[in-house]
Amino acid sequence: MPVDASSALLCWYAVDKRRLPWRAEGGETPDPYRVWLSEIMLQQTTVAAVKPYFEKFTATWPTVTALAAAEDGEVMRAWAGLGYYARARNLLACARAVVAEHAGRFPDDEATLRKLPGIGPYTAAAIAAIAFGRRAVAVDGNVERVVSRLFAVKEMLPGARGRIRELTDTLVPEEGAGDFAQAMMDLGSAICTPRNPDCGHCPLTGYCAAHAEGDPARYPVKAPKAAKPHRVGTAYWLERDGKVLLVRRPARGLLGGMLALPDSPPLTADWQAAGSVDHVFTHFALTMTLLCAETSQDVEGIWWPAGQLDEAGLPTLFAKLAMRGLSWRSLRRAA
Ligand code: ADE
Repeated sequence: MPVDASSALLCWYAVDKRRLPWRAEGGETPDPYRVWLSEIMLQQTTVAAVKPYFEKFTATWPTVTALAAAEDGEVMRAWAGLGYYARARNLLACARAVVAEHAGRFPDDEATLRKLPGIGPYTAAAIAAIAFGRRAVAVDGNVERVVSRLFAVKEMLPGARGRIRELTDTLVPEEGAGDFAQAMMDLGSAICTPRNPDCGHCPLTGYCAAHAEGDPARYPVKAPKAAKPHRVGTAYWLERDGKVLLVRRPARGLLGGMLALPDSPPLTADWQAAGSVDHVFTHFALTMTLLCAETSQDVEGIWWPAGQLDEAGLPTLFAKLAMRGLSWRSLRRAA
């Protein structure tokens, strides 16, 4: 059965695959740089969100060598809004390692790929399969869902991961592992969706144990999620001569390496409250209040023109706070 299911999936993919900017079209050789870049961007992020970033990155830095030579701040700025900023720091570290240690060519086996910054087991397998045609078992959230349904895996995630990987291994074909991996992703995104899977259009319905049971959406069985803690914080909008004080956040930690508004008071001033912003991170939710003031004092930092903050590359939390700051500014000017 497994081999038949794989062939059915590959036939479906040959006809119905999504055309995505990082995918090689019929007969083209995949470019490992584009495959790698797309896989890093697609970690925890939707295809729709990734597309414009992928286009911008490949237009600005068409090769891994070009990216490796980029300035850190430029890359962080280009990444702004995509989230999970550790990815951008690792992206640069990885590009530089590929140039310094591998003469600018991505290694073609999983074990060597995994030694590079930002490349974990899933990403190494995806690159080995998609870029180099290696037989590799790439298991992401989509694959977990499809496979847990196909075999009606009763064990709970995350405990079931090992079992799901073994089951996926039985499906991966010797030839076409890259197409198989991408077919699983397309199936998981278009048909075998978390809620209301479209089993009527699925090439695997006839093989699917969860479909036979009658309630495929009950898989994968997941351990209940712990509620996210809620934190509060304060950001500071300090203005001088039409410019706003920005700081570069420390390389490690939340939003590391990104430009931001200060989150501690840069000086003593008549701070005025200008609303708050809610933002959800992976491990906690945050409500951040904005305090605003104007000064004529010199404070060390990056003074950015208030009218051009959309070009600063602020991460989304701070871009939202900057909108509050801009409203404070226009009210104040109108007064
Ligand atoms: N998600 C992760 N990798 C992907 C890919 N190559 N295509 C579509 N979705 C993906």
